Amino acid sequence: ENDLLEKLPLKGKKILITAGPTYEAIDPVRFIGNHSSGKMGFDIANEAANKGAEVILVSGPTHFNVQNSSIKLIRVTSAQDMYDACHEYYNNVDVAISAAAVADYRPKNVADQKIKKNEATFSIELEKTKDILASLGEQKKKQFLIGFALETENEIEHAKQKIQKKNLDLIVLNSLNDKGAGFGLPTNKVTFISKDFIVEPKELKSKEEVAQDIINKVIQFYDA
Ligand code: CTP
Ligand code: CA
Repeated sequence: ENDLLEKLPLKGKKILITAGPTYEAIDPVRFIGNHSSGKMGFDIANEAANKGAEVILVSGPTHFNVQNSSIKLIRVTSAQDMYDACHEYYNNVDVAISAAAVADYRPKNVADQKIKKNEATFSIELEKTKDILASLGEQKKKQFLIGFALETENEIEHAKQKIQKKNLDLIVLNSLNDKGAGFGLPTNKVTFISKDFIVEPKELKSKEEVAQDIINKVIQFYDA
């Protein structure tokens, strides 16, 4: 049995994965969030663990849980929490995969008390969150770095720009254009683009199969 474990392709590799949405507080009872379920990131984590990797899974609010003892789950709430958790582990990992739907903006000021409905109109000033993946790209040493991209126009061009801006080795472009792809659904239509701009469109697949394709890319990187 130990012999079998030794032969797993990602044995000895540490992989950091982000998953899920982030929640950005408005006041003690309200937040700005998004519809990410976390499934893609959890599927990648399970697949990586099945292939022998030691996984650190940093996840925003989700109902998913982990069974595999090779996955250390760190639950976070905000983009800043996720940033801090990622940087705690990043220096010690071989691979990082950014599947989280991180909020781009957060309320500039968080109210101490529940906001009362006094005004007829009400606006919240937002400020940019830190780009977690870009910061990992800046600090990259040996790590194989994978990001996701969600685009609705000029998909390939925008995804290529993200590879360069964030210093990625591979980007997984998610298409919302095709039926059956997107938030809350079991399937994804993705295109892989490598850092040398090789474009590899994939069939519409289950998220588990997309996770397998992504982890196979990691295995190929270490085989080459
Ligand atoms: N990402 C991140 N931290 C952020 C925003 C995004 O780590 N604050 C990561 C996502 O996890 C994803 C990649 O960056 O892997 C691209 O996210 P996406 O929303 O497609 O791109 P952005 O860089 O946020 O740009 P925009 O939303 O304007 O297209
Ligand atoms: Ca974004």
